[in-house]
Amino acid sequence: MKHLQSLAVCLLWLSSAATAVGREETDARTGLIIDQNFETVKQNCTACHSAKLITQAGATRKGWEASIRWMQETQNLWQFSPKTEKAILDYLAKNYAPPHTVGRRAPLVVEGWYRLHTGASHR
Ligand code: HEC
Repeated sequence: MKHLQSLAVCLLWLSSAATAVGREETDARTGLIIDQNFETVKQNCTACHSAKLITQAGATRKGWEASIRWMQETQNLWQFSPKTEKAILDYLAKNYAPPHTVGRRAPLVVEGWYRLHTGASHR
């Protein structure tokens, strides 16, 4: 019985560990995923607009870089040191990649259709 109990505890632990994977922790105020460089992004990217512009977007590293350049050229976004910019791009490219590159399952493969015999005729 003792063994069964520890097995059950072990299974419970395993299943909660499994559900924790893939469910990121997000910052309550900004909605940004909490990960490495999160603080840098929060400080530099939520001063002018809501973080929703980020959390609802998804882009490649190049795309994020272009977005930053556009804001620097037209929206008075300040210049970052190369280190800060790298930290920001690392974070964005990892956590806000284009939707089809994160967590998207492979398309189903349809092996072949079968005819459904219902007995009723449509014609
Ligand atoms: C100096 C102010 C300012 C800062 C700081 C700022 N932005 Fe912006 N950003 C803007 C403005 C202005 C817009 C246009 C908003 C609109 O159209 O309503 C914008 C738009 C955006 C958009 C939507 C348009 C697009 O290019 O897709 C995204 C995404 C974005 N910002 C991300 C960021 C990120 C990431 C950072 C941090 C590196 C950042 N912003 C920091 C001013 C700023």
